[in-house]
Amino acid sequence: MARLPPLAALLFLCLLSACRAAGPRDGNPSAVVLPVSKDAAATQQYVTSFRQRTPLAPVEAVLDLAGATLWVDCEAGYASSTYRRVPCASKPCRLSRSAACATSCLGAPSPSCLNDTCAGFPGNTVTHVSTGGNIITDVLALPTTFRPAPGPLATAPAFLFTCGATFLTEGLAAGATGMASLSRARFALPTQLAATFRFSRKFALCLPPAGSAGVVVFGDAPYAFQPGFVLSNSSLIYTPLLVNPVSTAGVSTKGDKSDEYFVGVTGIKVNGRAVPLNATLLAIDKKGVGGTKLSTVAPYTVLESSIYKAVTGAFAAETAAIPRAPAMAPFQLCYDGSKVGSTRVGPAVPTIELVLGTDATSWVVFGANSMVAVKGGALCLGVVDGGEAPRTSVVIGGHMMEDNLLEFDLEASRLGFSSSLLFRQTNCNNFRLG
Ligand SMILES: *[C@@H]1O[C@H](CO)[C@@H](O)[C@H](O)[C@H]1NC(C)=O
Ligand SMILES: *[C@@H]1O[C@H](CO)[C@@H](O)[C@H](O)[C@H]1NC(C)=O
Ligand SMILES: *[C@@H]1O[C@H](CO)[C@@H](O)[C@H](O)[C@H]1NC(C)=O
Repeated sequence: MARLPPLAALLFLCLLSACRAAGPRDGNPSAVVLPVSKDAAATQQYVTSFRQRTPLAPVEAVLDLAGATLWVDCEAGYASSTYRRVPCASKPCRLSRSAACATSCLGAPSPSCLNDTCAGFPGNTVTHVSTGGNIITDVLALPTTFRPAPGPLATAPAFLFTCGATFLTEGLAAGATGMASLSRARFALPTQLAATFRFSRKFALCLPPAGSAGVVVFGDAPYAFQPGFVLSNSSLIYTPLLVNPVSTAGVSTKGDKSDEYFVGVTGIKVNGRAVPLNATLLAIDKKGVGGTKLSTVAPYTVLESSIYKAVTGAFAAETAAIPRAPAMAPFQLCYDGSKVGSTRVGPAVPTIELVLGTDATSWVVFGANSMVAVKGGALCLGVVDGGEAPRTSVVIGGHMMEDNLLEFDLEASRLGFSSSLLFRQTNCNNFRLG
């Protein structure tokens, strides 16, 4: 619900939390941030934390470029005096495109036991398990500044989200009790925060490698990095964000478009040379099959089998002089790490270019984003085989996006990308706001 609090409440919040911090506009922050860390354990998920409920409680959730809303486990340990149901016949229920209504619950009232409440389908996009759950609102508080520590909070008094269940959190990073959707859906974080705080419908994603810190910035903020480096929009390369006409979600209604972010990759080059690929697979067809999307829950880039074979084959040919190491699942192409040189942008290996639209723009991927250090000192090309006939032919995974700044501009429907920040002698950990 994109309702603004009454002026008095707003002033009160400002007194409490200094909403001047990120440059106020009608008492609203011009940007809010989510800190990001990478789970160093097996999940390799990107985890964020924020405050929710009354009294405010810390919540950790896995970041997801897909999904319809934020969902959190409302069964275990949800205590709040400010949660409200979203009634079945209400406008937010209609806008959430929910086809379901939880009509009655006989237990004691709680976020997951309410009468006449709009129902959603929270999904764990890692395990592909979905369930039904109440759509409710509650207080959500996000920092308005970021360095040296997350700063004063901006508060959304009635942020809409979906109640997940405890079993739905299986497969998420330790400590995470839900997933925070960054998709283009109406009530995912980017659009709902923009409506709440009246800033632009855009966000920048700067994913960290394990052991470092990253950020998601919603709204209008300069992309400033310590020490004294600002990434201006003229140093980003832009490409249109494409809408897949067919939903790619676990649960969907016929006719729904996909809420995920697709880009128009038209070719792949290795060391500057075009890899022969079946162009049909790179396009999105009428059934929504094919194309290229970005995913933060895929740790590594996933390529349809014929694309995988062509790209790894071209990469092997360009690196014939580097001694190989045995394959290490899920990777096939591995090298003796001690025989690979190093550069500012990671291991010295051929570049991989994702050619976008016309040949003029390319997302150039350097060693830090293409190679993965595995046990025993080997370095492997960090792409995996997605099999024949996957739904989406190219899924750009988290590792390939780390220490790159990606601006998802939903208003202009375009993706701005920086390529590796390591080139500019900075990284996501150096991002600052305020
Ligand atoms: C839902 O309505 C029924 C019938 O009026 C009532 O018995 C029940 O306690 C209500 N449940 C909740 C959670 O308010
Ligand atoms: C870059 O930002 C400036 C100032 O905010 C704006 O006037 C300009 O149109 C932007 N350029 C692009 C390519 O978005
Ligand atoms: C290219 O891919 C499409 C879609 O999978 C397939 O129908 C077609 O046969 C492929 N073409 C070639 C030359 O392999």
